[in-house]
Parts: sequence; structure tokens; C-alpha cells
Amino acid sequence: MTAVEFIEPLSHDEGVKNATDLFRATYGEEPAGVWAAPGRVNLIGEHTDYNAGLCLPIALPHRTFIALKPREDTKVRVVSDVDSENVTEADLDGLQAGGVEGWATYPVGVAWALREAGFDAVQGFDAAFSSCVPLGSGLSSSAAMTCSTALALDDVYGLGYGASDAGRVTLINAAIKSENDMAGASTGGLDQNASMRCTFGHALRLDCRPELSPLENVSQQEFDLDKYGLELLVLDTQAPHQLNDGQYAQRRATCEKAAEILGVANLRVVADSIAKSDDPFQALKETLDKLEDDTMKKRVRHVITEIARVNSFVRAFANGKIDEAGRLFNASHDSLAADYEVTVPELDIAVDVARANGAYGARMTGGGFGGSIIALVDKARGTRSHRRLLTASKRKVSTHLAPCRRSLRLPRAARLIAEADAKTRVGARP
Ligand code: GLA
Repeated sequence: MTAVEFIEPLSHDEGVKNATDLFRATYGEEPAGVWAAPGRVNLIGEHTDYNAGLCLPIALPHRTFIALKPREDTKVRVVSDVDSENVTEADLDGLQAGGVEGWATYPVGVAWALREAGFDAVQGFDAAFSSCVPLGSGLSSSAAMTCSTALALDDVYGLGYGASDAGRVTLINAAIKSENDMAGASTGGLDQNASMRCTFGHALRLDCRPELSPLENVSQQEFDLDKYGLELLVLDTQAPHQLNDGQYAQRRATCEKAAEILGVANLRVVADSIAKSDDPFQALKETLDKLEDDTMKKRVRHVITEIARVNSFVRAFANGKIDEAGRLFNASHDSLAADYEVTVPELDIAVDVARANGAYGARMTGGGFGGSIIALVDKARGTRSHRRLLTASKRKVSTHLAPCRRSLRLPRAARLIAEADAKTRVGARP
């Protein structure tokens, strides 16, 4: 029988201790403090953020901790517990987009982006990271890193944006710029908003229309799995996931081109007008008929239908219609597989197995091209489903592909999210 390897979240104390110990061992002094930010799971609304659409993430209890001390010069030194022997150095002075390599790109990019945005007070820093957000699993380990860095820099340089939800949008923008311009991944804002804005017991309904203010673009939707006796399984297929190899950017460019052909600022405009029409199916068909390229038609169909699915999921879950919520998970995955073409065999197989083993619904989560799936199951089935999933996925995935091995347990998601949020909000100090 396959043993389920659960990735347990680091407790607050463990995270603070690990990051502080690594800081001391590396730099021979005390950090100014320790801050943290979580990874995320997106429930539904995939590849919609950069189309000004809707997403619905929850924060994970798994967080990245950063111990940091500001410097008086513009030098940056970073180290992580993944490779604690190697300190990466950079200089913010004269730094250009794309000027840093490897994982250090993300934290250095945040300081660079804040300075680019006019926050001249931001100088260099020494930092040590300790994280339990699985890397390269589609669970936003990079956002956990950029957001924890942004919170730390905000605090030590007295910028004053970290304390309020609206203020955090300024830090989120720096985290997004770091990822887009320094790391070269043209991602939207889903991950960073999730990491900084998710709250107790809620999923974050994020509306990415650029014209909305920070006060208007999120609403907190109750997400209490216990209330319905449910569990959300998160399973990392371990198929490598990378968003800066051109495939993600290609999808984004196709959507932007489609909007241009349709004469609108973004695909959300089309999605809204289709949703309001008397016959949405006919309206969608008429929209697609205006596009010549078959691939483009498929991409647009995914985005339009996925935006509608977010609202439907919110309604279904709030009304306890779990079968319907599960059906929407399934429809989302099928659309990402057939129309958006961002799934890989490992994801499709894991989803099939979850469905065959009694899940209400299952889907890939995050950017795709590898990474993780989520499955909505009755609580009583949680561990058994996990085991079956792991065993069957292993059997079905051909040997040259990575078998599913790791998973995250979120039995009391609401409570755990609260913990993550409370601690990130204040910036935990040792
Ligand atoms: C990645 C990106 C996000 C979003 C998702 C897909 O996680 O970082 O901005 O586009 O993919 O929904």
C-alpha cells in the first residue's frame, strides 16, 4: 500500500526559528525581524487574471518565512534553507530588469520594483528564507517569497503599506513587477493577491478589472468545508511546473490579440456582455465566429466560460450545492485540458482517478503545465481517497513520468487559513 506523504506546514515558531537560525549562521548577527506569507490554492478561475477576469483563491497554511536585516548600502545578500551553503549577492544600484539570475531574482526583484516605483528609502538587505511551500508545484512558492519580502521591506523601511488591505496592493504590485520584469514570467496578479489578502475562513473573490480600486476588487466569500463535511485534497503530481518557458506568455499573448480583434480592452468586457445577453450560448458562438484562428477560438472559449464558472461556483458553494460545485471543478479542468491546453498527462490522470474515487469534482490548480490538482471529497473519504489517488496515479502514469507522491492535507482549511493570515498580517517577530 502506498504511504501518503503529507507535507505538514511549519508552525509559526518553527518557521521563525528556522529563518532566524539560518540568518545567524550565515551572517553572524541578529535579524531585525521575521515576516511570512503563504502559498495558495486557486479554487476556480484559472488563466482569467490577466484577462481582467475573476479568480477564487484560498491561502495555504504553508508559508515562507524571511528573517531580514536592512543594510545601509545597496547590496543584497540572500540565502535559503534549500541550499544553505550558497549566499547569492546582488547590488540594487544600477540594477536593470533581468539583471539577476536564479531564485534570488524574486526577493531582489521586489526591492528593485519598490525603488522603481519611487520608494527611494528602500536600500539593500540581508535575508534568510525558510519555507514549507512546495517548490514548483503550482502552489505559488514564488509569490510566498516575493510577498514575504515585500512585507519585510515595507516594515523595516517604514513605507506603511503592509498594515491595511488596500495598502498591501502597493506591495502586491511590486511583487508582480518582480515576477514579470525581473524573473521574466508574465503572470497576472492572482498569486500575490491571494498571498496578501486572503482572510479567516474565506475564499477571496478577486475581480481583476484594472479600473477597480483595491476597495472594490476583492470580496471575502465564506469557505467553510467543515460545514458541509468536506475536505479539499491538494495533490502535487511532481510534474515540473515552470511559467517562464514561453508557453504561459503565449497563452496571454493570444488572449490579448483576440481582445484586439474583437475591439475590446480585454476579454472580460466580452465575458460580461455575453453573460448579460438573453442567449449566452448564441452570444458566445457569435463572438467565436468573429475569430478566424481555431486555437484562438478555443483560448477565448475557455476564458469566457471560466469567468462565468467562478460566479456559479460561489453561488453553488454558498447554497450548499456541493454536486454542482464539483461539476464546476470538473468543467474547469476539462476546459483547461481541451481548450486552453495547459494540462499534462500527470494532471489529467490524477483528476480522472479522483473523480473515479468519489470526488465531487477535481481539477488542476494554478498555471498548469505540471503542478498540483485539487479534489473536493467527503471528509470521511479524505485519507482513503488520497491513498487510492496515489496508488492508482502511480500505476497509470508511465514510468518516465514522475508519479504523484506528495500531498497537502487541508482538513480544517478555514482554521488554518486564519492562522496563516493573522501571522502574515502583523509580520511575526522572534
Ligand atoms: C499562475 C500565474 C497566475 C495565474 C495562474 C493561472 O499561477 O502566476 O497569475 O495566471 O497561473 O490562473
